[in-house]
Amino acid sequence: MTALQRLDQLVGEQASDLARILADHRAATFPPTAQKGFRRLTGAEVGKLLAVAESRVRQVATDNGLGQLVNGRRSYSLEDVTALRQALASGERTRDRYLPGRRQGEGLQIICTMNFKGGSGKTTTSAHLLQYLALHGYRALGVDLDPQASLSALFGIHSVIDLPPGATIYSALRYDDQRRPLRELIRPTYIPNLSFVPGGLELMEFEHETPRAFGASGGGGLVFDRLARSFQSVEEEFDVVVIDCPPQLGYLTLCGLIAATSVVITVHPEMLDVMSMTQFLAMLADVTGVIFDALPERLRPNYSWMRYLLTRFEPNDGPQAQMAALLRARFGAFVMLNATLKSTAISDAGLTNQTIYEIDRSQFIRGTYDRAIESVDAVNREIEDLILKAWGRS
Ligand SMILES: Nc1ncnc2c1ncn2[C@@H]1O[C@H](COP(=O)(O)OP(=O)(O)OP(=O)(O)O)[C@@H](O)[C@H]1O
Ligand SMILES: [Mg+2]
Repeated sequence: MTALQRLDQLVGEQASDLARILADHRAATFPPTAQKGFRRLTGAEVGKLLAVAESRVRQVATDNGLGQLVNGRRSYSLEDVTALRQALASGERTRDRYLPGRRQGEGLQIICTMNFKGGSGKTTTSAHLLQYLALHGYRALGVDLDPQASLSALFGIHSVIDLPPGATIYSALRYDDQRRPLRELIRPTYIPNLSFVPGGLELMEFEHETPRAFGASGGGGLVFDRLARSFQSVEEEFDVVVIDCPPQLGYLTLCGLIAATSVVITVHPEMLDVMSMTQFLAMLADVTGVIFDALPERLRPNYSWMRYLLTRFEPNDGPQAQMAALLRARFGAFVMLNATLKSTAISDAGLTNQTIYEIDRSQFIRGTYDRAIESVDAVNREIEDLILKAWGRS
């Protein structure tokens, strides 16, 4: 029998081989004792985050013994930024400005990024949004619903190497007696205010088990609200949750959708991507129509907003600009005003499992870095505005 006739053995061996190579590579470039961390920020960066002048940052920092002087320049850890926020917010009148998290009566916002087109920028969008929110003083929780676990990798968690079985969000969803409360799966990250529940290959089980559970429940819609219900127990601890969905319209994505209070559909404005999204939307309409009808009234999602986000956008590329214009013409305000521009700063950061907020500006040509971060910031600020509107604030 040739190797190819035993495809199972062949790819099984190749998978173990690759896992070993990756583990070695990681051990060489990122020792097991190393923890992912966030670089120190300059006064200008902190000023931008807190929307105050750099001189005010320096003054409040000096008054409170925050920041560190290195070679005559002051730099700040993210913990310093949190302390600065508290100090600035201590004047009651300006509290909202520095501690913008939700108040009584304002509901937990759960944002789902989705599309079944692979590589449309779901994970990149989720990671940057989560870090932006945490850096701007919101209590953020990231949930990686993708068996590929790319968002987990961006947060420094290699699901195969770092996680024992049962540590992913699958544990909160599973149907047997090993189901665990969401609280036990939430872990802190190296960013204050940002918590995370990793994904991993075991999530595939959920896709296989759900049809059986669905049958056993007599076809009631209740199997789809598992994620939604698990959020209820930790609701008070967060302001915003961002769920990164896998590139398919399976049961995991449906669970995310039913838990969500708002939806971001990422789309790269090119013909093939938009064609694929058209199919996604048609399927989404079919599937959610059936499920929403089956769900009891109290579980039916009531979305605050949904938006299309143009990703990896190159405004100078004729066909892309045309496709973007077409989407804006048809969908109007449902397309976000700001788009994520295509940038080597974003893709290069991704190669080392980082976001553009984590990399050092000095690693890039200034213009490249500045354009990229401006576009990412503008997208995130627009989503922040939608969150604030959902809370009834202007
Ligand atoms: N604005 C951007 N500029 C340049 N590269 C980008 C940008 N956004 C994403 N990328 C790169 O495109 C690739 C796909 O992005 P990403 O993983 O976010 O997509 P995805 O939709 O989550 O993919 P999947 O469907 O596999 O989950 C990544 O290598 C990422 O670094
Ligand atoms: Mg992804």
